[in-house]
Amino acid sequence: MEKRELLYEGKAKRIYATENSEVVWVEYKDSLTAFNGEKKAEIAGKGVLNNGITSLLFLKLQEAGIPSHFIKQISETEQLVKRVSIIPLEVVVRNVVAGNLSKRLGLPEGQPLKQALIEFYYKDDMLGDPLLTEDHIKELMLASEEEVQILKQKALDVNAILSSFFNEIGVRLIDFKLEFGKFADGEIVLADEISPDTCRLWDGKTEEKLDKDVFRRDLGNVVEAYEKIYSKLGGLKACI
Ligand code: C5P
Repeated sequence: MEKRELLYEGKAKRIYATENSEVVWVEYKDSLTAFNGEKKAEIAGKGVLNNGITSLLFLKLQEAGIPSHFIKQISETEQLVKRVSIIPLEVVVRNVVAGNLSKRLGLPEGQPLKQALIEFYYKDDMLGDPLLTEDHIKELMLASEEEVQILKQKALDVNAILSSFFNEIGVRLIDFKLEFGKFADGEIVLADEISPDTCRLWDGKTEEKLDKDVFRRDLGNVVEAYEKIYSKLGGLKACI
């Protein structure tokens, strides 16, 4: 497969065309951003870790019957994925109170939730990714009512699979963000990435934070935290 023109550059990835109009080439960058881009850093090795971790998790999910855009990892920092049009919603699933939810509802971080919560945010940097109700989604015509139900069910399915998978390797999946895309025929599939940039992952024994909160809150060495996740996943070069 050939890497052709740059189609899009985001905060953490570059997307290139290939000779096949249905396949795009994704390159993971070393940039790390938080608070809607207000805090930024270049962290050597982060692209390799996020590409490796995302590739492993998408493979796990595919094995468990969750269709996604993922095709294969092709190098330490690159993967091939099917072209989709991204639905401009960030679907957040929470198992334990943390981050934004703790601030918004005044609940203590670390308190388990009675059931997994799903929230939708509008993927719009200018607006600061606001929280949306289902009525807002309908008003903005971001997804139909039926599609919102599909997104919720898929997010819960992913949560069940990933929670039990992380549990097996001694890690607690506190919360995470998913993005979904649509194929030309309207089928909705999981897309984007699932990595310590997009999940909160706590060590099951020590509660050590092994995710982007290390960067957001200046808690220590981000690469070491992400490496712990990658090595627990048994991932070193497993996918290439
Ligand atoms: O900040 P908040 O508590 O809402 O984040 C919930 C989860 O979603 C966290 O795992 C966070 O890393 C992820 N998230 C993300 N991208 C965003 C917002 C949140 O990956 N733009």
